[in-house]
Amino acid sequence: MFTLIYIIFATAALAARLFLNEPDTGFDPFIPGGGGLTPLNEIFSLADFDASARSYMSLRNYSYYRNGAAGEWSYRNNLEAFGRIRLRPRSLVDITHVEESLPTSILGYNFSAPFFIAPAGRAGYGNPDAEKGLLRAGEAANVLYIPSFGATLPLEDIVAFKSPGNEYTTFQQLYIDNNDTNVQSSLRRIENAGQKAIILTIDSPGDGARSRAERYGVGSADTGLTLLTWERFSKILNMTSLPIVLKGITTVEDARMAVSSGASAIYLSNHGGRQLDFSPSGFEVALEIHKQAPEIFDQIDVWADGGVRYGTDVLKLLALGVKAVGLARPFMYANCYGEDGVARAIDLLRTELINDSANLGLGDIKSINSSYLSLEYMNYNGWYTR
Ligand SMILES: Cc1cc2nc3c(=O)[nH]c(=O)nc-3n(C[C@H](O)[C@H](O)[C@H](O)COP(=O)(O)O)c2cc1C
Ligand SMILES: *[C@@H]1O[C@H](CO)[C@@H](O)[C@H](O)[C@H]1NC(C)=O
Ligand SMILES: *[C@@H]1O[C@H](CO)[C@@H](O)[C@H](O)[C@H]1NC(C)=O
Ligand SMILES: *[C@@H]1O[C@H](CO)[C@@H](O)[C@H](O)[C@H]1NC(C)=O
Ligand SMILES: *[C@@H]1O[C@H](CO)[C@@H](O)[C@H](O)[C@H]1NC(C)=O
Ligand SMILES: *[C@@H]1O[C@H](CO)[C@@H](O)[C@H](O)[C@H]1NC(C)=O
Ligand SMILES: *[C@@H]1O[C@H](CO)[C@@H](O)[C@H](O)[C@H]1NC(C)=O
Repeated sequence: MFTLIYIIFATAALAARLFLNEPDTGFDPFIPGGGGLTPLNEIFSLADFDASARSYMSLRNYSYYRNGAAGEWSYRNNLEAFGRIRLRPRSLVDITHVEESLPTSILGYNFSAPFFIAPAGRAGYGNPDAEKGLLRAGEAANVLYIPSFGATLPLEDIVAFKSPGNEYTTFQQLYIDNNDTNVQSSLRRIENAGQKAIILTIDSPGDGARSRAERYGVGSADTGLTLLTWERFSKILNMTSLPIVLKGITTVEDARMAVSSGASAIYLSNHGGRQLDFSPSGFEVALEIHKQAPEIFDQIDVWADGGVRYGTDVLKLLALGVKAVGLARPFMYANCYGEDGVARAIDLLRTELINDSANLGLGDIKSINSSYLSLEYMNYNGWYTR
């Protein structure tokens, strides 16, 4: 008897834990193979775009998008963290007007949804028109798009895709080096291009170790060690009149520091798990702030990203007080189809968000708070802890 129990436990302990890059929703028969893309009308979730892009893109190009740092624990954890916190749906609430509560203001600019297209380099790896589809679909839906400083096209060319009248607001991600003259000229370029805010990435003072992509020569750009300090940030703030958002906050301590730093918002992110393996997902950082310093969500606008694939992921972040939620890989995979693909991705997430809100018993998305989350935390063994 004891031996049998021992064998059962030993087997369970040795079995590899199942990781689902995309949950099994029966997508496999819809992958055409032979380098084809699944027709857009057969794509029903953001996760489907990953499978379709994987079949279509060269392994080299796909590896650049898919890559995480080192053993990719953070990459996997970003997707799995949402699965450890359950929802607490309320019943018999009038939700028929929930769609009207979707539009939101980000740094004072109005957008149609509380999610945005996060900065990701090299759109040309998935589409010969590079960043065009991301900008055009973002504009058509009035969803915020933040071009990467490492985009395939120069930022001036990307904003030139805007329709005449130039009413669509975009922000610009920025990487800096150690030379203030270069920083100053980057800031001028961004201002002259009409970008309305700067998203300064601070999670990459070193290079990410990205073996999956390095095999194909498309790993982290070798930029050496970058001087990123609070002191330098305050100097940079003084070099531009544009608002600056700090991208890559991963602790409550740094969130506290940022409140009085002059930053216009903070962006919780581990860079899609591409920089420091074992850094927490944006959702976990939001949970940490919620637990230890919830007032921060009222003191400064908080954005977050990492592993967001479903409407419920967006809702879990909003419930903690996050104002805007970023997604990178899903839109990069969708951009293999160009504007139509990105538009479909936006539409899928939008309608999921509306219907999920309804089923959560939310009449107004903006009224969501942490009472809609069960803040017990489920660990890998299925135990709930506080
Ligand atoms: C292919 C790729 C390129 C990226 N390039 C940048 C970049 O140039 N600047 C930056 O701040 N973040 C970059 N990121 C990180 C994203 O902005 C974002 O933080 C992260 O990918 C969100 O996780 P998700 O891909 O699971 O949605 C990149 C991510 C990917 C997947
Ligand atoms: C943004 O939306 C708010 C209300 O939702 C509205 O009062 C305001 O005028 C809008 N601003 C712009 C610039 O359209
Ligand atoms: C891979 O990316 C390169 C660089 O942008 C591009 O020239 C090439 O066409 C891409 N290959 C595929 C199969 O998409
Ligand atoms: C900084 O960059 C400028 C312009 O690119 C260059 O002229 C200057 O020599 C650089 N300074 C240092 C210390 O490298
Ligand atoms: C930078 O600081 C100086 C002096 O403190 C000030 O005169 C100047 O206007 C500031 N520049 C910007 C762009 O904020
Ligand atoms: C979800 O909500 C939208 C907006 O009300 C609606 O058009 C759509 O048909 C609903 N269902 C699905 C599966 O998206
Ligand atoms: C959270 O939302 C619920 C439902 O609207 C409300 O009853 C409750 O008072 C809110 N809690 C807080 C702390 O605001």
